Amino acid sequence: MTVPLVETQALARHYRLGSGRILRALDGVDIAIGKGETLGLVGESGSGKSTLGRTLVGLQRPSEGIVRFDGRDTADAAGSHLRELRRRRQMVFQDPSGALNPRMTIGTTLQEHLLVQGWSRAAARARQPDVLAQAGLPGEFAERYPHEISGGQRQRAVIARAIATDPDFLVADEPVSALDVSTRAQIINLLRHLQRARGLSMLFISHDLSIVAHICRTVAVMYLGRIVEIAPRTALFETALHPYTRTLLSAIPLPDPARERARPHVSLRGETPDPSAPPGGCHFHPRCPIATTECTETSPLLRTLAAGHQVACHHAGPATAAL
Ligand SMILES: Nc1ncnc2c1ncn2[C@@H]1O[C@H](COP(=O)(O)OP(=O)(O)OP(=O)(O)O)[C@@H](O)[C@H]1O
Ligand SMILES: [Mg+2]
Repeated sequence: MTVPLVETQALARHYRLGSGRILRALDGVDIAIGKGETLGLVGESGSGKSTLGRTLVGLQRPSEGIVRFDGRDTADAAGSHLRELRRRRQMVFQDPSGALNPRMTIGTTLQEHLLVQGWSRAAARARQPDVLAQAGLPGEFAERYPHEISGGQRQRAVIARAIATDPDFLVADEPVSALDVSTRAQIINLLRHLQRARGLSMLFISHDLSIVAHICRTVAVMYLGRIVEIAPRTALFETALHPYTRTLLSAIPLPDPARERARPHVSLRGETPDPSAPPGGCHFHPRCPIATTECTETSPLLRTLAAGHQVACHHAGPATAAL
């Protein structure tokens, strides 16, 4: 990778819960997303995926650590640097209904978004048809209200708004989870098309590994605020090394029923721990089939085991490959 477009170092985000308890939603995250690359981010509910996404686009501030965008630290951005960051980093949310103002037409929503970025009303209006077309919506949809169009069309409108400022980084946070199955593929294809046509870098968040596989060349797996494995898509699907990743993979049915029956299934033991009181050492150890005393005592760091393949497990290697 050349200079990454988005990069974090030791990124942490803590939430104060009452009675002095602190929830470490992000607990030392190091990731890098190159120009034009899409990183998939998977993990159970509550693992910190949305928190990471929001922090990368600047909707939340880090508690500790660094978010760098195009080589510059974003922490003290102000004036023209802050305006540039707002233009270049955009987010698409899970629920398109909640993301659109029900009292505004799609056209007004698009215009308001551009006015906030300093555009004139005339320029914003002139941009509208092109942006709608890029998101696969006819120009007359500018006059419609969110409740007058389908869920898939609403998500297209949210995507139109996100690309209106010509960003180069997009966080798509579960962009198809709220849609019915038949529209999911269309929205995924739209995002893939935009990514290729515009050279967008993207963080694509999902708890569904099979969706991520369609769109991302690299996949990161999160567990309780930490990245436990990052690998190129094929390496992750064929030689995942973290026991947690392997349990996620074994939950995806194989298309060939004979292979599916022959495959050993690894199921997760126990519940996800309370994120405000995670287990010591490796957070995953109480649920891990190969945990040892070392895992209860020492938190494993991400280490590189093959090209582009990093894993945070003391025993990753032959022991996990045989699971
Ligand atoms: N504003 C907040 N105040 C306190 N705790 C929060 C806040 N936002 C998130 N959390 C907690 O931080 C942790 C991570 O939340 P986050 O929404 O990032 O997870 P997620 O991986 O996106 O989950 P999901 O798959 O359900 O969307 C969770 O334990 C959540 O309860
Ligand atoms: Mg989330």
